[in-house]
Amino acid sequence: MSETVFTRQPHLSPLSEEERVEILQDPGFGKVFTDHMVSIDWTWSEDGGAWHDARVEPYGPLSLDPSASVLHYGQEIFEGLKAYRHEDGSVWTFRPEANAARLNRSARRLALPELPEEMFLGSLKAQLEADRDWVPTGAGQSLYLRPFMFATEAFLGVRPAKEVRYMVIASPAGNYFGGELKPVTIWVSREYARAGRGGMGAAKTGGNYAASLLPQLEAASKGADQVVFLDQYHDDSVEELGGMNVFFVFDDGRLVTPELTGTILEGVTRSSVLQLGRDMGLTVEERRITLAEWAEGVRSGAIREVFACGTAAVVTPIGRLLDGDDVIESAGGTEVTLKIRAELEGIQTGRVEDRHGWLHRL
Ligand code: COI
Repeated sequence: MSETVFTRQPHLSPLSEEERVEILQDPGFGKVFTDHMVSIDWTWSEDGGAWHDARVEPYGPLSLDPSASVLHYGQEIFEGLKAYRHEDGSVWTFRPEANAARLNRSARRLALPELPEEMFLGSLKAQLEADRDWVPTGAGQSLYLRPFMFATEAFLGVRPAKEVRYMVIASPAGNYFGGELKPVTIWVSREYARAGRGGMGAAKTGGNYAASLLPQLEAASKGADQVVFLDQYHDDSVEELGGMNVFFVFDDGRLVTPELTGTILEGVTRSSVLQLGRDMGLTVEERRITLAEWAEGVRSGAIREVFACGTAAVVTPIGRLLDGDDVIESAGGTEVTLKIRAELEGIQTGRVEDRHGWLHRL
């Protein structure tokens, strides 16, 4: 397949270099956006439809018909990955082929068109070519890339849209939870589920995140940073947090994470952590783990560490679990958690050998 050519609309940043440098000192998460955005349109046809009009434009509001199906039926998917600046100034991203593959798995579930991997990788490169100066250099910082795809067709019937747009935007990022890295508190959602069997839980679609907002608000009202969802119709086994996967470090060297059942998102960080755990000689298990095993394990000391992981969260220790009136303090250490985090960030930022070939130059 020939390489996609992106037309580029020349653009001067509304920000001075000093302003941008100041933003990059402490970018937070998802608050500021770079100067450009990438778009590619797709139009349905009898013989399958085609992607066209790949372009890089100044970042700005979209013009969308009020009847566009995404606004009514939520036909939308997205991805999240980061670009890292290495010491020599070069910029790299991490396992983008895995994001391209997941985007297409999500696309299939949401009846959206698949995007060829070459276009996905090309879109990241085009975004970076326009906004390279936005990649921060500070420790733990990166440029968060948000590819997404949505139904633009103006039509109120319930069927897959015949007009779709794929876009990339970018935002400089520090710690997702704000400030310095510290253990977070998790609140157990007993009333709400994130996704059901046969639903869209394995797809990265806005609806799953919308479903997490009310429980997330409730979690915040209890002083927690994130909500954890359970499979409460079976055995209360742990599924995932509002926007990240969860891992348990046992005192006998096991690293356990909930197995993929179709209701859990297959995180790229999740699969990288599983590999890094194996590399460190841990015994890796993907299996059901109930809330009772979590609570008992922490209380007895069998579970030494619990952590959350995701592109945005990286690897973040979980310090406390709130289950109704029950407060389960973490059993202690963050040693393995921080070792895995350091290894992952080391590979991403070029300080540790990329032994699995995970890096992709942008
Ligand atoms: C990511 O980790 O990239 C996500 O999409 C999750 C969201 C909480 C920011």
